[in-house]
Amino acid sequence: MPYLTGMNRTLDGRVALVTGAASGIGAATAELLSQQGATTYRADLAFSSSNGGELRLDVREEADWEQAIATVLEHEGRLDILVHSAGIAAASPLADTSLAEWRRVMATNLDGAFLATRHGIRAMRDAGGAIVLVGSVSGIQPSAGAAAYSTSKAGVGMLARAAAKECRELGLPVRVNAISPGGVKTSLWEAMPFFRDLVEKHGSSEAAFAAMEAHGGDRFAEPEQVARAILFLVSDSASHVTGVELPVDDGYTL
Ligand code: NAI
Repeated sequence: MPYLTGMNRTLDGRVALVTGAASGIGAATAELLSQQGATTYRADLAFSSSNGGELRLDVREEADWEQAIATVLEHEGRLDILVHSAGIAAASPLADTSLAEWRRVMATNLDGAFLATRHGIRAMRDAGGAIVLVGSVSGIQPSAGAAAYSTSKAGVGMLARAAAKECRELGLPVRVNAISPGGVKTSLWEAMPFFRDLVEKHGSSEAAFAAMEAHGGDRFAEPEQVARAILFLVSDSASHVTGVELPVDDGYTL
């Protein structure tokens, strides 16, 4: 799919690292940043090995972050953009949520965002750069039956703001923002049993999303619609924007 056809490429000469880039929002973002001229490294747990622009990265593991950033710096000498999209969905009532399940969600969604921010700032603190963390509307308005997920995503929003304020006060030229999407048509939903039931009932993921839209009234986004908002935040168009949690939700949180 062609993006922004006919417009100038806004990220020529930039170097980007995108996590969760094997699927969904991360994949669409990596594609868009690349089309906009950025040399883009794609990182994901789903990649079997590191090969060229694809890096195998488990966002929960600090050693993986050190390795991934070192690889980018070794080849490119710089990192200008870090988009942290890797995350997992989870849904279970609080009384039925084990401590192990709580920790599983926090490890990927919150430890991962912490390590992204920590290592992103370390890589960018001299030459400058932009970090975008992917949160969720569930971190702004709680989702019933998904307290662990909601809490992890609320943490992501605060982490972006805290990091932005700290960079500002320390005089580090790093902008940190969060994007918080509403429902997006990605494979994230396949982790939820009720969604798998809907796919079975309606015959495809697309039909399952349509059924949810008809039932709840909220429109799902295409991953590219989220990627475009991320592009804004990492580009020079947002050079004065930091510490924002931007909902990309068709007004869901209003
Ligand atoms: P997705 O499931 O299509 O992609 C997520 C990617 O993250 C996958 O490629 C997966 O392999 C990777 N990943 C998972 N755990 C990882 C780990 N430990 N280390 C490295 N990579 C890992 O899902 P989607 O929708 O693209 O999700 C991206 C982000 O957007 C997530 O943080 C999610 O919570 C958030 N989000 C998604 C929404 C949706 O409706 N799809 C709504 C709001 C937020």
